Amino acid sequence: MKILVTAGPTREPIDAVRFLSNRSSGKMGYAIAVAGKARGHSVRLVSGPVCLLPPQDIELIRVTTAEEMLKAVLENVAWCDALVMAAAVADWRPARYVPDKLKKTAMKPVLQLEPTPDILMCALAHKGRRIFVGFAAETADLLTEARRKLIQKGLDLVVANDVSRRDAGFECDTNQVTFITREGEIIAFPLLMKSDVATRIIMWLEERAARSGLSAAP
Ligand code: CTP
Repeated sequence: MKILVTAGPTREPIDAVRFLSNRSSGKMGYAIAVAGKARGHSVRLVSGPVCLLPPQDIELIRVTTAEEMLKAVLENVAWCDALVMAAAVADWRPARYVPDKLKKTAMKPVLQLEPTPDILMCALAHKGRRIFVGFAAETADLLTEARRKLIQKGLDLVVANDVSRRDAGFECDTNQVTFITREGEIIAFPLLMKSDVATRIIMWLEERAARSGLSAAP
């Protein structure tokens, strides 16, 4: 299979030295890319700014902003059999970018924000028979919110994770996730290493591809 993975946060610049972003470390997305490669698939990884070493033998496309990530996904989605959006895309960006450093003056600056594009929604037009997997990072109403995203974003699988836990979600090496499939199947996993969660996602993709007549072979 050809698997396109996104990972990490995006950064939305405010001025020459400041940006808006989030706590994503990129570990989950990188683990998915590595697991895909380890199971013999072709992997392309679109990565926001992270402090991780580039995985070996994986085509890495580095981006910074949500707009750049959108462009990279749209340029590569036709290549893939499966898209796994593990990136924590910033939902808003400053409406105006100041090319110089904003100076500290008596006036408090007011940040006007505008929404960034929803990458999954934009990619939906190119879905065809491709398998789309998204994540739902939640602090409340985990399953309800995850199901809403599954439907709204036209996903085949949503990986729900409670990011309010200290041992799951952002920054750590472990994650506790629940898979919710388009068919309504719910699979809850115990706390696992992100590398194990990643392997389960790749194995799910392989099964799904085999069932839908796509070649699940590397
Ligand atoms: N996502 C995306 N483009 C965005 C924001 C999110 O493609 N601009 C993707 C994420 O990569 C993830 C899924 O959508 O796979 C859900 O992301 P999440 O941050 O949990 O939800 P949001 O869409 O931001 O919705 P909400 O703000 O209601 O939580």
